[in-house]
Amino acid sequence: MDSNCGKYDFSVLCRHCDNECSDAVPCQLTGTLPEWLKGQLIYNGPGLTKVGKNEFCHAFDASALLQKFEISNGMVKYSSRFVRSKTYEQNQAAGTITRAEFGTPAPASKGMFSRLLDAMDPEKMFSDNALVSVIGIGEHHFAMCETPFMLQINPDNLDTKERINVNKRYGLMTQSPHPIVASDGVYTVGQGVGVTGPKYNILRFPLDGNLKEGKIVASVPARWRLSPAYMHSMAMTENYAVLIEQPLAVSLSELLSDIVSNAPFIAGLKWHNEPVLIHIVDRKTWKQVKTRYVADPFFFMHIANAYEDGEHIVLDVPTYKDSSILHNMFINTLREQRGKNTQDYVDSFKSTLHRFVIPLNTKGKDKLITLPGTSCTASWSGNEILLQREKLTQIPLENPCINPKKRALKHQYLWAMGPDPNGGDSGFVMKLDIASGEKFMFMEDNIYCAAPEFVAKPEATNEDDGVILLQCINSQDENKAYLLVLNASDMTEICRASVTTASAVPMPLHGHYIPVTGQ
Ligand SMILES: [Fe+2]
Repeated sequence: MDSNCGKYDFSVLCRHCDNECSDAVPCQLTGTLPEWLKGQLIYNGPGLTKVGKNEFCHAFDASALLQKFEISNGMVKYSSRFVRSKTYEQNQAAGTITRAEFGTPAPASKGMFSRLLDAMDPEKMFSDNALVSVIGIGEHHFAMCETPFMLQINPDNLDTKERINVNKRYGLMTQSPHPIVASDGVYTVGQGVGVTGPKYNILRFPLDGNLKEGKIVASVPARWRLSPAYMHSMAMTENYAVLIEQPLAVSLSELLSDIVSNAPFIAGLKWHNEPVLIHIVDRKTWKQVKTRYVADPFFFMHIANAYEDGEHIVLDVPTYKDSSILHNMFINTLREQRGKNTQDYVDSFKSTLHRFVIPLNTKGKDKLITLPGTSCTASWSGNEILLQREKLTQIPLENPCINPKKRALKHQYLWAMGPDPNGGDSGFVMKLDIASGEKFMFMEDNIYCAAPEFVAKPEATNEDDGVILLQCINSQDENKAYLLVLNASDMTEICRASVTTASAVPMPLHGHYIPVTGQ
C-alpha cells in the first residue's frame, strides 16, 4: 500500500472558529435515524486559534470548543460553545493571549520574576483551557485536558459550570484526560511529587461523580528522578492497573530553564532513548507487581483496551516510533505543510496498532506466554521481561474505541480513524476484526473523520451490534459539519446529518455520547 498521505490537510485541527453556534440549528438528514437512537454526542477540541491580533502557536493551545449533535424525535441539531475556562474569560477580557499554553510562551509583558513566581502555584502556572475530552462521571460531565483542572459542563446548553482543581485537592500536577469508568469507581492517573521524586498517582473518584471524595489509591515512582513520563492514558483490567512509562518525559530541570527563557511547555518534554517500562499494579493491594516489563521504545497516547486472558494481560495500543507528531502540530507547521506534505511529516502522524501480551505469575516459568493465536513474545533479559509486540493491522489509525461493555474484557472488534492511507484528500473510519483481520472501512472524498463512538443497540447480543457515531468535516468547505451514523458491523452509512455553520468548523479531538436517560 502506498504510504503517502500527500493531500491530507492536517491543518483542519487549527481552523479558527470565531463564532460559536449557541442556538442549536437543525441539520439536514439523509437516510433514516434508528428510532432507538436518542442522545447527545459532544466533542471537544481546539476552536479559537486567535485572540485579538494574537495567534496561539500550537493546535493544542487554541481555546476549547464543544461541538454537539443532539439526536431526538427523528431530528439532529448542531450547536457549539467555547468552554468558559478562567483563561478563556481572561483572554477575552484583555483582548489578547494572557498566559502560556502548551506551545505558546507567556506574553512578553510577563517578566521572568513573575513567571518564576507563577511556577510555584499550578493554579497560576497552567492554563485551564480544557480542550481534549468530555467525560461523564455519574450525572456530571466535564471538559478535560492534561492540566489539573476539570471544568464541569451542562450537556444541555454547553454552559461551563464549576471548575475543579485536582492539584489543590489531590496534589496532581497533570492528569490523563481519559479516565476509566470501572465497577468500583472512576480512575485517572497523574503526575504527583513525593519526597523521593515524581510519582504516577492513580486517583479514584466515586461513581456518583462527587469529585470531593476522590482518593489516591496507588503511587508508582517515576524511573527518572527529575523526569516523569508523559502519560495520556492508562489501562485497567479486572485485577490490575497498567501504566506505560514511555520515553517521552517532562524534564523538570529543562522546565525550570524554559521558565527563565520563556520557552513554551513543549520545550520541556525530553525523549529518553530508553525502553518503555510497563508497570503493573495489583488492584487488591494497590502495590506494584515485582516483575519489571520492558519493550522497545515507542510513543503512545491512547490504549484501546486491556484485559486478562489466562495468566496474561493483553494490551492493544496504537504506537508511534517517536513523539515528533507533537512538534508537528505547531500551527505554522500545519499550515506550511498543507498541500505539500513531506514524507517525514506524514510519517510522524502514523501510528501502528500493536498488541502486547504481558505474562503474569512468571516465577519459575520457562515459557512465559502460553496464549494461543498470538505472535507476541516475552523473554527474560537479565531481571526484566522483554516484550515483543504484534502488529494488528497495516493501516495507521488512531482514537481507537471498542464496545464499552467489553472494557477490561476480551474484545474482538475495534473501531478507529485516520487519514486516507492511500494519500487522498479524505479521512477514514474503520472496523477491525482482530480475530480474523477483516476490515470494513468508511471513506468519502473530502470527508475527514473525527474519533468514532460505538453505541450498542438496545438488547444487542453481538459485540458489533450497534452504530458508530462520528463527527465529520469537509476539507473543501470549512463551514460544513456532519454527524454520520454508520452500521457498526459493516460500516455502511445509515444516516447523515449535515449543517452549514456561520464559522469554520475545526476538527475535534475526542467525543462523548450521552444517551437520553433510561436508554
Ligand atoms: Fe486523547
